[in-house]
Amino acid sequence: MKHTDIIDVIGKDDYLGQEITVCGWVRTARDSKNVAFLALNDGTSLNHLQIVIDKSSDIEVDPEATKLGASLKVIGEVVKNERNDTNEINAKEITVLGVCPADYPLQKKFQKLETLREMPHIRVRTNTFNAVFRVRSVIAAAIHRFFQERGYVYINTPLITGSDCEGAGEMFQVTTIGYSKDYKSEEEYYADDFFGKKTGLSVSGQLEGEVAAMGLGKIYTFGPSFRAENSNTQRHAAEFWHIEPEIAFCELPDLIEIAEDMIKYIIKEYMEKCPEELKFFEQRFEKGLTEKLLSVVNNDFAVVDYTDAIEILKKADVKFEFPVEWGCDLQSEHERYITEKVYNKPVFLINYPKEIKSFYMKLNEDGKTVAATDLLVPGVGEIIGGSEREADLNKLLAAMEAKGMSTEGYDFYLDLRKYGSVPHAGFGLGFERIIMYVTGMSNIRDVILYPRTVGNIK
Ligand code: 4AD
Repeated sequence: MKHTDIIDVIGKDDYLGQEITVCGWVRTARDSKNVAFLALNDGTSLNHLQIVIDKSSDIEVDPEATKLGASLKVIGEVVKNERNDTNEINAKEITVLGVCPADYPLQKKFQKLETLREMPHIRVRTNTFNAVFRVRSVIAAAIHRFFQERGYVYINTPLITGSDCEGAGEMFQVTTIGYSKDYKSEEEYYADDFFGKKTGLSVSGQLEGEVAAMGLGKIYTFGPSFRAENSNTQRHAAEFWHIEPEIAFCELPDLIEIAEDMIKYIIKEYMEKCPEELKFFEQRFEKGLTEKLLSVVNNDFAVVDYTDAIEILKKADVKFEFPVEWGCDLQSEHERYITEKVYNKPVFLINYPKEIKSFYMKLNEDGKTVAATDLLVPGVGEIIGGSEREADLNKLLAAMEAKGMSTEGYDFYLDLRKYGSVPHAGFGLGFERIIMYVTGMSNIRDVILYPRTVGNIK
């Protein structure tokens, strides 16, 4: 169907005086005896195009064309509305492509985000989700561009895996047969299953990413990860999109530099390419959002040692729900205090105790901490987790043993340390978390098309 995108009609004067065809859904309709105004949106812009129907002309208008949600094809002349200096269309011919009955769920102008979550197939037609998904798309492209411009190779790691990367056992199992009591042991059951061994959906592409980096030097992945975490929070989803660069010949300070550059790059692109959306989020969801993002782009992030953070938290004049001691895993209340109250900007926390981090992280010279980093941001908390990897075979084996892990299934990973091992590092950025940060949306369920969370699959 040949037609012009509404964004081009609104944004440029090239079509003024011309007769063109536009398509879209009716967002609002004002109908009177002599004239009707329709606000048409085709998804290309947050702004609607006004269609003016002069009823005294010989245009025939199907009454269904003025119903909220109806889809139309409109032919008409582009004219300038002098009152508000916008382009609109004087309709000559209107075809109803799809009628929309009165039970259309978006009759009310503003609906609660919770209500909209119940209808993921409809909510994309609202301004909020129109803006969220356009920003997601622009940021996804910016992430690819950032890595491509710097010579990283985009790779796709498997989604079905036999190894649990984070070692936390939070994997969804992949099976084609249900467990039955007839099996004498778990081993017998798994042997009978599709792959002949226990498999699950990958929580991270990192281990295979490391494999690729050992041949390609610099790689990144951009795909879904799955976590069967039973945490019903505003920032956890069972299925989320994960960006994981892995870099050979890279140490922790280099990794931090790459992560900071990447975040600044994508925010700059977002501010440049989505000014309308940013204005919308500022007005509706986070006052001061633009200023916050400008400040992120123009200032250095803080780098704080875990041990120093513990001291700051111990001295804080705040009663935390979870007590703080060196060695404890930081809770979200602690992370928020550090990034929101103390620094009020993104903070790389580094050098965590080895006991609370994953087996693959490089042991520091103190023998107590690992060269890991989490990037914490105000409002959202952790958006990046990463580390330098343990490149020494014996140290890696010792770390696995200390965590009670079997080496079964990790032969390939150990081989990387056996054959030409090199210092290397990588991180994982939660795609939905960065979208939350730049839009001010406070719930992860509102930045992904179909959220999957505990007890919820639509
Ligand atoms: O800190 P995580 O668990 O690190 C890893 O998976 C490493 N293997 C990454 C690497 O070094 N290549 O997860 C990385 C990021 C988190 O900082 C967070 O942004 C996001 O992934 N994330 C989630 N996002 C949404 N829902 C969840 N359940 C998430 N779990 C992690």
